[in-house]
Amino acid sequence: MKIVVLISGSGSNLQAIIDACQSGVIAGHVVGVLSNKADAYGLVRAEQVGIDTAVIQHKDFANRDAFDLAMQEHIELWQPDIVVLAGFMRILTPAFVQHFVGKLLNIHPSLLPLYKGLHTHRRVMACGDKWHGCSVHFVNDELDGGAVIAQAVLDVLAQDNEQTLTERVHKHEHSLYPLVLSWLASGRLVYQQGLPVLDGQILHQPVRLLM
Ligand code: GAR
Repeated sequence: MKIVVLISGSGSNLQAIIDACQSGVIAGHVVGVLSNKADAYGLVRAEQVGIDTAVIQHKDFANRDAFDLAMQEHIELWQPDIVVLAGFMRILTPAFVQHFVGKLLNIHPSLLPLYKGLHTHRRVMACGDKWHGCSVHFVNDELDGGAVIAQAVLDVLAQDNEQTLTERVHKHEHSLYPLVLSWLASGRLVYQQGLPVLDGQILHQPVRLLM
């Protein structure tokens, strides 16, 4: 399975995916990494292991449509089976999402549909929630929307603060994303008419892994 990863920052999820490909957990390889920021550390991670990279900066384009089209055309050069958003912090146009529909995945640091958008850990703490976690989902054209495939669920501990909660969730992202990608690469997970199907069963609810 040929994987393209889109990033905007540190790329620790990208690293987890690269590692899982190298160790054989994912039957695939990362063929390209695209960033909308030239200083994203994830680009260094990719270059260190000889993965092709590209920088396409939104500020160089007149509008969102032109930016997304440029990204789409570059991604297509890599001929991916799957396009993975890993900390890619731009809202995508419906045309881009439609082009890659069923092939486009995202990870988000909350138990979707709760807490779409930014500052999820802070908002969970402020609401006093007992549970938090992260979600991997197929992408539709709503922000952090689309059918959720799997979630890592953890207790919010009495001693947690925003930073410890962020770190605990982040750690579980690094196992959840490779796991879901391994299902895709092995053919266990497919996308059918907007829904994830795992081992022949439609996932009306995400797979929940209690951590
Ligand atoms: C991750 O926590 C990811 O879930 C989040 O950005 C971080 C990127 O970290 N994504 C979103 O919030 C998307 N809505 P990384 O660059 O170290 O992988």
